[in-house]
Amino acid sequence: MTAQLIDGEVVAAAVHSEIKAEVEKLKAEHGITPGLATVLVGEDPASQAYVQSKQKGCSEVGIESFGHYLSKDASQEEVEGLVAELNANPAVHGILVQLPLPKHLDEERILRAVGLDKDVDGFHPINIGRLAMKGRKPLFVPCTPAGCIELLDRYNIPIEGKEAVVLGRSNIVGLPVSMLLLHRNATLTICHSRTQDLPATCRRADILIAAVGRPEMVRGDWVKPGAAVIDVGINRVWVDHPADREWICSASGECFIAHRKEESDKGGRRKMGVYCATHDKIYLKDEVPADAEGCEMIDLYRKYKLVGDVDFEDVKEVAGYLTPVPGGVGPMTIIMLLRNTLTSAERAAGLVE
Ligand code: GUN
Repeated sequence: MTAQLIDGEVVAAAVHSEIKAEVEKLKAEHGITPGLATVLVGEDPASQAYVQSKQKGCSEVGIESFGHYLSKDASQEEVEGLVAELNANPAVHGILVQLPLPKHLDEERILRAVGLDKDVDGFHPINIGRLAMKGRKPLFVPCTPAGCIELLDRYNIPIEGKEAVVLGRSNIVGLPVSMLLLHRNATLTICHSRTQDLPATCRRADILIAAVGRPEMVRGDWVKPGAAVIDVGINRVWVDHPADREWICSASGECFIAHRKEESDKGGRRKMGVYCATHDKIYLKDEVPADAEGCEMIDLYRKYKLVGDVDFEDVKEVAGYLTPVPGGVGPMTIIMLLRNTLTSAERAAGLVE
């Protein structure tokens, strides 16, 4: 059996057009432009990339984005002060504080500071609480979990009465997606690091959601034939390149693997260090001495690829439906954020509940 691919790019493009049309209508008929504020604390490259793609998504559908960047040492008061300003700004309909936050910050307090009516991430404790309770409705549902359910719905995969197994119990994905499946009357199992016999538990699933952050952990023999498998994982794994060699940092003595910039194509590669041709020295990228400025430097890169939590090649022979990585859940997360921002703007204008 070869699984049918659940194409997140195609679904996201369809929802994208729906949102764009709604945004245009809101502007034309009510003079309202939805606005999303993003708050990024620190310089984590993955978080920078996520925030950038959220802003790009906004501009594509006509939502205004307001990017706010704080240093990695920003205090609790600074972050909460910024959130308070954004709460008071009527041009901002949604506030997204990119997670994870630096360790010294109190994440719960910051998420609680986001106005309930602007909590487009759905992480405010009241929204999460409502999501967890029967008969209650949160104002917003977290984006990645909402994207998983949207994919199942758009491929007409039934949820009611089915065995759903969620691998992972994170606040961002595992927990909220479990609540959504429960609301849709799935019979739910949540697995985590202490679960005994993971393969046998996963094999019970008609719907398997993998959100553990372990590259290619779910194998074909973990999957019930015909099951729908949603892979939320986005993991970077190194890929060998023929020009790879070991380099030793002249500053720290640490060893790293890389090749010279010109030896590989762009895309899917990460800067590891530099070769200072002027002084014939090697440095890890964060250990270049300040006095090297002006020297002739050659960047040293290593290739990587993105893989999910599911071994795609193995599982596609068993599953009925399967999301690829990239191109599955990833594009849906941003789309759901845009939809929540639009809903928030419509709600602020009294057009929806
Ligand atoms: N970090 C990883 N996923 C998310 C998300 O959905 N929202 C926020 N704010 N941070 C994240």
